Amino acid sequence: MENRCESLYSKEVIKHFKNPKNMGEMKDADAVGKVGNPRCGDILRVFLKIEKKKINGKEKDYIKDIKFQTFGCMAAIAVSSVLTEMVKGKTIEEAKKLKNNEIVKKLGGLPAIKYHCSLLGAEALNEAIKNYESRLLKKDGDGFDWTTSLKKKK
Ligand code: FES
Repeated sequence: MENRCESLYSKEVIKHFKNPKNMGEMKDADAVGKVGNPRCGDILRVFLKIEKKKINGKEKDYIKDIKFQTFGCMAAIAVSSVLTEMVKGKTIEEAKKLKNNEIVKKLGGLPAIKYHCSLLGAEALNEAIKNYESRLLKKDGDGFDWTTSLKKKK
């Protein structure tokens, strides 16, 4: 007999929930994005390790590694897990284009009452990318970090 989760969620959601990929903290992350869902209080953090690679002769930033921590429901954990698989190895430009409905589709759908949980994944990824880009802006052309310099003077 099916249990309640099996009737509510797709096989893919259950698979990612039972065996989440890329879960945990990343100590040497280049960027972190954190979002919360005010409706339920769940929290999701995404950690990115970013490196450069040449694509068609141009150097691009890409996601070398990604990890997540989710304090949330089954759908939020499955969304986080599949999200990491979808963007690992992608350039930052490609990762920015990821939409919630693509994540939900990859999971084989989510129950309507759980669709809001899918928002956390793309939002946390976008926050992490913004965090990375703001760090780049704080550095001048030769990599000098003015924020660190200013802190040292205080
Ligand atoms: S119920 Fe909180 S993210 Fe799903």
